Amino acid sequence: MEVIIRPTAEMAAELVARLVCGRLRSKPDLVLGLATGRTMERVYDRLVATQRSEGLDFSHCRTFNLDEYIGIPAEDDHSYRYYMNHHLFSRINIDVSNTHVPDGMAADLRAETARYERAIREAGGIDVQLLGIGEAGHIGFNEPLSALMSRTREKALTPITRQQNAAMFGGDPNKVPKRALTMGVGTILDSRELLLLATGSAKASILAKAVEGPITAMISASAMQLHSNCKVIVDEEAARDLKERDYYNWIFQNEPEWEEFQD
Ligand code: GLP
Repeated sequence: MEVIIRPTAEMAAELVARLVCGRLRSKPDLVLGLATGRTMERVYDRLVATQRSEGLDFSHCRTFNLDEYIGIPAEDDHSYRYYMNHHLFSRINIDVSNTHVPDGMAADLRAETARYERAIREAGGIDVQLLGIGEAGHIGFNEPLSALMSRTREKALTPITRQQNAAMFGGDPNKVPKRALTMGVGTILDSRELLLLATGSAKASILAKAVEGPITAMISASAMQLHSNCKVIVDEEAARDLKERDYYNWIFQNEPEWEEFQD
């Protein structure tokens, strides 16, 4: 795992977007795993800006989202399908039929999760998976005690997650759905590269536990430590509780890979 600390949330998101753009340039039919949440909005704005300024081509790119609420139709502005269309897909030259979000309205949810796993496999697996982190330590909607080998399935959301996401539901946690479909921790770990972005002081404590604490099913983001190609990109605020900050900064300043990203 590598941890990169940028001074601001804007700069952290910019670095993630630049990495994604680089991967897409070298592999136009990239299979890109996507995440939702407020943290990712800056990344998607950057991808849109790069497509406009440099003609970045998404026409062969395939995408798979981490998760979706159960019982919210795609056209509803609370659904993650709506979020993706709004923040990214409608603003770039992607073929919407190449974009995949689990169907939280499927009549048979178990069949839908099996279909989703199959679709990822048939696309050749995920090249790069974007991740945020929830305040309960989840990646996707892998709430505490999610098996580290879990696959795409239905999960009940914890009160802390429903509280965290209440802002998108008029501030009322009771309006946040109780259940969601999510890629499993094992599904996420199968991706060839993981890029986790965390910004803001609300994420500082859980991020330090996920990165520097023990691997535990109680904090599904800690499973990133098992992955051999994983970058955690944070701003100063989210980095606050990391003990080895100086070491991470030294690596960033000295590794040739990061030379083009220096200020
Ligand atoms: C939701 C999503 C997660 C995301 C998290 C962080 O719970 N299911 O995939 O990482 O939100 O959200 P935010 O970026 O708004 O803090």
